[in-house]
Amino acid sequence: MKLEGKVAIVTGTSPNIGGGIAEGLALEGAAVVCVDARTENARDCAQSIAASGGRAIAITCDVTDEAQVSAAVARARESFGTVNVLVNNAAFFNRKGVLDMPFDEWHKQLAVILGGAFLFTKYAANSMIEQRCKGSIINIISTAGHQGEPGNIAYCTGKSGLLNFTRSAAMELIGHRIRVNSLTPTATDPSESLGRAARWGRKTPDPARLKEAFEPFRSRVAMQRLPSPSDYARAAVFLASDDAEMITGIDLRVDAGAIAQYWAWDPSRRQA
Ligand SMILES: NC(=O)c1ccc[n+]([C@@H]2O[C@H](COP(=O)([O-])OP(=O)(O)OC[C@H]3O[C@@H](n4cnc5c(N)ncnc54)[C@H](O)[C@@H]3O)[C@@H](O)[C@H]2O)c1
Repeated sequence: MKLEGKVAIVTGTSPNIGGGIAEGLALEGAAVVCVDARTENARDCAQSIAASGGRAIAITCDVTDEAQVSAAVARARESFGTVNVLVNNAAFFNRKGVLDMPFDEWHKQLAVILGGAFLFTKYAANSMIEQRCKGSIINIISTAGHQGEPGNIAYCTGKSGLLNFTRSAAMELIGHRIRVNSLTPTATDPSESLGRAARWGRKTPDPARLKEAFEPFRSRVAMQRLPSPSDYARAAVFLASDDAEMITGIDLRVDAGAIAQYWAWDPSRRQA
């Protein structure tokens, strides 16, 4: 197991991407601290890991509240002795454009995406430095952080800010043996998340309608299929593990070729 003996904090552990990453880290032996502002998302993720034989605790915490973040890192240490890995995944979607987005909503979305990553990095990194342990911090971006998407101004801005936050923090923490990288997901196949939500006892939307909603994304992406949370989890395991010990300041894209693809090329018409 690649993460045996390591302790990982994951923020935003819904049944979708954060839950998938948390379960994936646990499968490789990490003890996982599931952090979410919604108690049920922290609780169900931790319970699911424990039910599969892993070690996990749930912490209800708003990533924008400094006192709560500081307390969450302290509780992680009390429970498991240390913190080696941090995945800054919490975010929320609020599709508004520069012409109509209220300023307070802009602030709130950036506060979660950038402020939450800043606060958790600050407290987790200080803990790693105090304990003189190696660390790996992983920031979850989005292909929307690499490209200009209309009507999604705060999200796109926050995610691209997180890309350079990653490089800056990587350089600042390099002397403390703390690596900081990012991971870029894209539109995500909903099947796995639906299965996880059902396993967690949640009511789930109609799978056929959801599949239909994702079809335009699938048909336009270079690989002609969309990644699942477990694809992101395997990449996160790699970045968290000692296999990546010489890797810091990079962005690992798990995006089915989305960012690499030439804009005018229609992959649905490619020759097999
Ligand atoms: N879903 C996608 O297709 C997609 C694509 C690219 C990138 N991403 C990124 O992946 C990550 C996870 O996305 P998802 O689709 O699983 O989202 P999601 O909405 O299912 O999960 C986000 C979680 O973050 C939590 N959260 C929100 N604000 C918080 C706060 N202030 N404090 C603590 N927790 C908070 C929510 O309660 C939720 O559980 C995000 O960073 C997102 O930007 C998602």
